[in-house]
Amino acid sequence: MWSDVEQKELEEILKKYPTKRSALLPALYLAQREKNWLDDDDILAVAEALEVPVTDVQAVIGFYTLFRREPTGKHMIHVCTDLPCALRGAEDFYARLTRRLGLPSEGGTTADGLFTLEAVPCLAACDKAPMCQIDLQYYENLTDEMIDTVLAQFRAEAQQESGA
Ligand code: FES
Repeated sequence: MWSDVEQKELEEILKKYPTKRSALLPALYLAQREKNWLDDDDILAVAEALEVPVTDVQAVIGFYTLFRREPTGKHMIHVCTDLPCALRGAEDFYARLTRRLGLPSEGGTTADGLFTLEAVPCLAACDKAPMCQIDLQYYENLTDEMIDTVLAQFRAEAQQESGA
């Protein structure tokens, strides 16, 4: 599963940790990087490389929302709809965003494959709702107009990358 480049990167990662097991998060991040999600082969490859049970790898993946078990869009949008954020309008913000992205209420991936939207529990920015995390970046105190501007920037970047 690992490409030659990834294999070298994995070896470098392993040098930084006292045990193979303790490198689980960066190894998973590396395994996910190419296609943006982890299939069964990826999980097995990580388990074998780190000499840990597959169930331990699966447990870690299940805990962290940044690891994905299904194909996703290029950019992952996590909107916190937990209670403190809901009290500041996050649920309505999320519902409006699903509609503007043409997605069902439970979220999903946009038709152009650019965004995957998910409602998630607390992201530790409870006083700045509505808030979301796109890839690894936080966006806080959001309005519909603000998130639309952010998403338009991602679309413009994608167009530039594709040469359109
Ligand atoms: S409840 Fe939303 S960030 Fe904490």
